Amino acid sequence: MKKSSNSLPADMYLFDSPKTLQNPLLQHREVRSDSHPSTPGKAKMERNNHFGDVQSRSYNFFFVLCVSLFILMAGAYMLRSEGPSVEKKFIVRESESSIPDIWRSQAWQKSVRESCHVKREDGLVVLVTGAAGFVGSHVSLALKKRGDGVVGLDNFNNYYDPQLKRDRQKLLDRHGIFIIEGDINDAVLLKELFDMIPFTHVMHLAAQAGVRYALQNPHSYVHSNIAGLVTLLEQCRRANPQPAFVWASSSSVYGLNTKVPFAESDRTDQPASLYAATKKAGEEFVHTYNHIYGLSITGLRFFTVYGPFGRPDMAYFSFTQNILSGKPVTIYQGPNKVDLARDFTFIDDIVKGCVAALDTSEKSTGTGGKKRGPAQLRTFNLGNTSPVTVPTLVNILEKHLKVKAQKNFVKMPRNGDVPFTHANVTLARTELGYNPTTDLNTGLKKFVKCPTLEPSA
Ligand SMILES: NC(=O)c1ccc[n+]([C@@H]2O[C@H](COP(=O)([O-])OP(=O)(O)OC[C@H]3O[C@@H](n4cnc5c(N)ncnc54)[C@H](O)[C@@H]3O)[C@@H](O)[C@H]2O)c1
Repeated sequence: MKKSSNSLPADMYLFDSPKTLQNPLLQHREVRSDSHPSTPGKAKMERNNHFGDVQSRSYNFFFVLCVSLFILMAGAYMLRSEGPSVEKKFIVRESESSIPDIWRSQAWQKSVRESCHVKREDGLVVLVTGAAGFVGSHVSLALKKRGDGVVGLDNFNNYYDPQLKRDRQKLLDRHGIFIIEGDINDAVLLKELFDMIPFTHVMHLAAQAGVRYALQNPHSYVHSNIAGLVTLLEQCRRANPQPAFVWASSSSVYGLNTKVPFAESDRTDQPASLYAATKKAGEEFVHTYNHIYGLSITGLRFFTVYGPFGRPDMAYFSFTQNILSGKPVTIYQGPNKVDLARDFTFIDDIVKGCVAALDTSEKSTGTGGKKRGPAQLRTFNLGNTSPVTVPTLVNILEKHLKVKAQKNFVKMPRNGDVPFTHANVTLARTELGYNPTTDLNTGLKKFVKCPTLEPSA
């Protein structure tokens, strides 16, 4: 795997239009030139006072100048805080006339159709969003291997090294899975795709992941986890047949909850990070689409997923790279030097949970946007049920890598991380037959053999 570049990701943004920014100024001028005073009789006095008129005009000018300067400075600050290398794109395809030629090409359509070809009786036809991602690539492979039709959708953003996503794409391609390069906000692309393929299921895994990056680039979370989710749900509710919708929420929705282990019925109204807030918002959005349109919905709250072809932004991955290259690892500690703990869950267990969620999904009840009856709505924790502290994680890595780590203990900054996570998976066990079997020691042993790993520079 190639090194991650230091440049900030080219995520997409939803900005206020320049018109919106100008509006306050325009409104201000209108108000000042309004000849209808709120207090009757006052106008004459003001008009007759020449000095007052000049003074008021100079106030006007001064006010407009100040507001303009403020807007310019605020704009400059926003651009600076997002980083100089952030690429700004708008994925708003207005009409079918803007459809790129490639989608009309027979080769592209053939790739999509072949990828969706079902090779077993009653097989599923699944659109996997985020298919070039960590979880998406593993789930796509598992479905394809058992004979389901699978096509992927991913925008290959550079939140982390896109080369890793390209490597996963190559792997999927070798197994006959085509990944469409596109954004879940692209409603025209989604319509084109759903017109071509009657998907039985959508496995929605595309998202802006990571808790800490939200401090740098909050808009990328809104773009993918909120706006993108709604665009996708809009397409699903309009589709005929409507697919069943299975999607990744996160254990982070438990936020500041202190009751352990976390159960699905626990409170989720205290998110500790913007990432968690967007996932919680997603849970509310899907509820609405279930209620109004009869979409069958299953939300999966993943607990710290790790494994081969994993995400370089996650601690187990970056720790491994640092240990291999002789760099220190930074280990955060909570108040009173309490070690942080995570319910690390191996990718194979998560994949089984995802596939079981797809298999047990009931059909959506709506057609073409109209609800015909109540539809299934479920939420499950997918965790490992045995939290491990971060220092223990490092000890296990040292053992498998046969290299001693340089440990640097640091007080946890206020960046949205929570001190611990711990899943109660009783519900998933009962309804999905979910049964996590890989402990952290076994899972990390498999991870360190992964060909994508190389020391960080
Ligand atoms: N890995 C974990 O520990 C974990 C834990 C909890 C929840 N989750 C959730 O599971 C899902 C999968 O996570 P992952 O670890 O595989 O992350 P990932 O970043 O590896 O995969 C997400 C993929 O989605 C793509 N993507 C992002 N925004 C997109 C957009 N607007 N349009 C199209 N594609 C887009 C990215 O390019 C990426 O390939 C995410 O929803 C994540 O929030 C993951």
